[in-house]
Amino acid sequence: MIKLLTIIGARPQIIKAAALSRAVKDKFNNEIKEIIVHTGQHYDENMSQVFFDELQIPTPDYNLNTGSGSHGKQTASMISGIEEILLKEKPNAIVLYGDTNSTLAGAIAASKIQVPVIHIEAGLRSFNKSMPEEINRIMCDHVSTLLFSPTKAGYDNLVKEGFEENTLPPYSFNNPKIYHCGDIMYDNSLYFSSIAEQKTSVLKEYALQTGKFVLATIHRNNNTDDPIRLNALFNVLNTIATENKIKIILPLHPRTAKLLPVNLSPELYNKIKSNEYILIIPPVSFLEIIALEKNASLVITDSGGVQKEAFFFQKPCIILRSETEWIELINCGAARITDADEVKIKEAYTHFITVKDLYFPALFGDGKAAEFICGEILKYVH
Ligand code: UD1
Ligand code: UDP
Repeated sequence: MIKLLTIIGARPQIIKAAALSRAVKDKFNNEIKEIIVHTGQHYDENMSQVFFDELQIPTPDYNLNTGSGSHGKQTASMISGIEEILLKEKPNAIVLYGDTNSTLAGAIAASKIQVPVIHIEAGLRSFNKSMPEEINRIMCDHVSTLLFSPTKAGYDNLVKEGFEENTLPPYSFNNPKIYHCGDIMYDNSLYFSSIAEQKTSVLKEYALQTGKFVLATIHRNNNTDDPIRLNALFNVLNTIATENKIKIILPLHPRTAKLLPVNLSPELYNKIKSNEYILIIPPVSFLEIIALEKNASLVITDSGGVQKEAFFFQKPCIILRSETEWIELINCGAARITDADEVKIKEAYTHFITVKDLYFPALFGDGKAAEFICGEILKYVH
């Protein structure tokens, strides 16, 4: 039996962890013991607890209750809490997801005391270091022992950064092993897709008809914190909704909800609030967002996870960023990068509601990435 210490903290990590915990429970229960540490980076009920309840993730063994703060304060507090738990629990390895401050904290705490790091979602790059996430993921990858990339592009990025292919065991941070293994988020979307509409009432609640609404999410710090960008984004959403008489539903991240009244012009803020086609709602559960993604005509987002889920459910996606780590979505024409440019966003909207033959190749594995990852961990972590 090996002991893995899993770090979660932000919403997408809680969701990602569900895939591995499910694989452990179903297939590796006698071989892997998972200790879950919640850093408390996200703490609102609808940003954290709702996912434990809905996705049957085991209750965390520890919660550091870190909460919000500046990058330095938040990360430092997590490092110190995680280090203490690592010293006490002595796991065989630490499992880290994605690119948040919780990921970085886990990578620093574990690597400094030589606990092997397993990075899931390794290799993804935006090539834009002004994103805090880009710094987090680069730093985490470079102290990892097993690096699981969901895409070929991610794997190739690691090779370009000097990671050797075909290294031989025993693996360590000085001799890491890299994989292209499919996406655990695809595992989750497949697994929960069939029950999403039955178990939720979000479509009925907001009177949404299949194919007759747009799903939008906005939370990226450069969009929320910059008044010019935030005004541009909400102005164009307002225009698209009004001109096309189409509902746009926006489950709003708390970061954005707090900044709307501060950063939008009072005039636009009032327009948005009184537009009957714009539905601003609190963050929804994973099953609810799947129901929305499956039934929307199109998705507009700056989220990493949501742009990919749009693709899983064969929906076109407008990406409100200047670049994406999920470059294959752009290359096959299923998504467009528009940044916060109102003209480009409107053009992309017109393009996607007109074009009928979008191509959604199978790029993210077979829905069994978590099982594969557990098998490899068992081979090489002792
Ligand atoms: C974090 C991640 C980002 C990820 C996102 C997922 C970092 C650097 N960023 O961004 O990569 O895409 O999570 O959602 O780790 N807040 C609440 N309640 C909560 C959580 C946050 O009100 O439960 C508010 C607070 O005002 C906080 C702000 O949201 O200051 C930002 O939260 P934080 O965790 O720092 O970053 P995110 O923007 O959520
Ligand atoms: N998500 C959710 N409810 C919401 C918005 C997003 O469950 O109201 C899910 C979404 O389906 C995806 C994950 O949260 O699986 C993405 O998280 P987020 O957009 O916060 O972060 P990112 O992926 O950009 O890091």
